[in-house]
Amino acid sequence: MSDTVQQVKDKLSIVDVVSQYVKLERSGSSLRARCPFHAEKTPSFFVSPERGTYHCFGCDTGGDIFSFVQAIEGLDFKGALKVLADKAGVEVVYGRGGKEKKDERDRLFELLEVATIYYSSHLTEEAKKYLKERGMSAQTISAFRLGWAGNEWSELTDHLKAKSASGGKFTEKEILEAGLGKKSERASAGWRISDKFRNRIVFPIADSAGRVVGFSGRTFGEHASPEAPKYLNSPETPLFRKSRILYGFDRAKGAMRKHNFAVLVEGQMDLLASHQAGWTNTLAVSGTAFTPEHATLIRRMTDNLVIALDADPAGIKAAGRAARAALQGGLNVKVAQLPNECDPADLIEKEGKEAWSRCIRDAKDIITFLLDVLEEHSKGPDWFRRSVESVVLPYLSDMRSPIAREQYVREIAERLGVSESAVADALAQLPRVPAQGGEARSDTPAMSATPEKSDVSPRGLGRLKQAYGILLWQLSLPKPQIDTTRYLSEMEEAAGEETFKNLKKLPEEEQEALRFSVESLYAEDVNLEREMQALLRVIHRQRLMEELDIATMALKQAEKSAKEKEAERLLAVCKMLTTRIAQLHEKV
Ligand code: UTP
Ligand code: MN
Repeated sequence: MSDTVQQVKDKLSIVDVVSQYVKLERSGSSLRARCPFHAEKTPSFFVSPERGTYHCFGCDTGGDIFSFVQAIEGLDFKGALKVLADKAGVEVVYGRGGKEKKDERDRLFELLEVATIYYSSHLTEEAKKYLKERGMSAQTISAFRLGWAGNEWSELTDHLKAKSASGGKFTEKEILEAGLGKKSERASAGWRISDKFRNRIVFPIADSAGRVVGFSGRTFGEHASPEAPKYLNSPETPLFRKSRILYGFDRAKGAMRKHNFAVLVEGQMDLLASHQAGWTNTLAVSGTAFTPEHATLIRRMTDNLVIALDADPAGIKAAGRAARAALQGGLNVKVAQLPNECDPADLIEKEGKEAWSRCIRDAKDIITFLLDVLEEHSKGPDWFRRSVESVVLPYLSDMRSPIAREQYVREIAERLGVSESAVADALAQLPRVPAQGGEARSDTPAMSATPEKSDVSPRGLGRLKQAYGILLWQLSLPKPQIDTTRYLSEMEEAAGEETFKNLKKLPEEEQEALRFSVESLYAEDVNLEREMQALLRVIHRQRLMEELDIATMALKQAEKSAKEKEAERLLAVCKMLTTRIAQLHEKV
């Protein structure tokens, strides 16, 4: 495989690769951009064409084309290699023997690829006719590699057991592990496993690199039976992690970035119809729940999601759940309203792609959408207020951005005709949602934004170290909540050059410990922006007061020894310091 790595490196420059994801601007011998891994206003992400590397000075990440694609697409090394090899037009060749032998995962990927080829080469005329009737073009059918799982009990299994592309044969254990076989009920007849999918149109589901990881199969026409579900999906397998895979993601990546939003639909047919209608930024949940992990995946491409689930009560409920997961995952969420009893595939089939485009363009921001729906069904102002509190506020508490939350508090207060602080109070009383990653937040209130109250902040950290710890913590995140560059310079201003320099000189372990203790100190949803500002004001004021003390003493000395000029200068300094302290005090 090292040959492949080298060939890919020869063909693709770091600029080719990175510029697909971020807008690069020339800066001396390198190129720079706003870092895709953390939020920043001023670009600190640099690409060096000569060295073939990138580095972000803001969040201190860096590497080559492979690590870049791994990070931005959330892939393992081999997945990134596949993405890049496809782009370079290089075939991934595995080394002969040695440590480059294929591992178990590679074998499973290969098995699923063989199955995909098998299914798609067996797509029957009957199935094609059905798909055509549903409006699918031959091009869509081939681009999405749709196939047919036949009627025989074990035709795919037999095929897989007989051969593999690289010569070996797949074992029953592997077939089961890939989710393509099931233990046969007909063991007595000599069969141990049979095919999982039979008499179904199969939709291959791929990971971000386009490697098939599972299938969904749909019955139709005479093949459908009342006992069998319309759609059958691969089980969860080592490769098919349902909470992390979205149907169509691999084909939607470029368009998500280009349009700077993604469209979320329910089913496979909806997705195909939407892609065919030109919305190639469409993803489908396809029978699983949308999770915050899915949201994280999408966020690597765009921050914006338009959810287009059915307009019936079940659909609205599902949209609500998806929206909350999306908000928890840090996405901005809009809702596209479909006409009653209609899913996107129906809409496109009946009213054409223009109607679908309109639906996407008219998508309403989630909170506005909810307020509108409730207002429309309102049984009076009291009812409206109560339902906003119970229905809408939980969405707000899911939002990761305190700034967005504040904006919505304002909007809700306006719509209800109540004060912002009333809405904020109601919001504060809501139970907290577990932070991403699963760990529940404690019920203890987030650390307050009023560090003035005591000299030593919680857990005995000095304020200076606390503020610095927040910065270290944020700098270690791919997407800091605060503008770290700005706060670094504000901190220097507040603490003074000398003190700031000393902080930066703290030993590595102490910095690490600081970052750690601060990180565990703050709840997910604390308004760090406000927290930082409050801390910096106090730090600043304290420093100025110390300076004032020194200046006052010097002034007394100067007066004593009748150094008039010096006393005059020091008096001016004292006045200046007093004014600035007063100003800072006012802000608090
Ligand atoms: P629907 O049952 O709403 O699909 O399921 P539909 O719109 O009628 O089906 P088409 O468009 O005619 O094909 C929506 C999605 O839910 C999942 C599938 O992903 C499906 O696309 N689903 C549905 C299942 O996983 N299992 C099922 O039994 C049914
Ligand atoms: Mn449908």
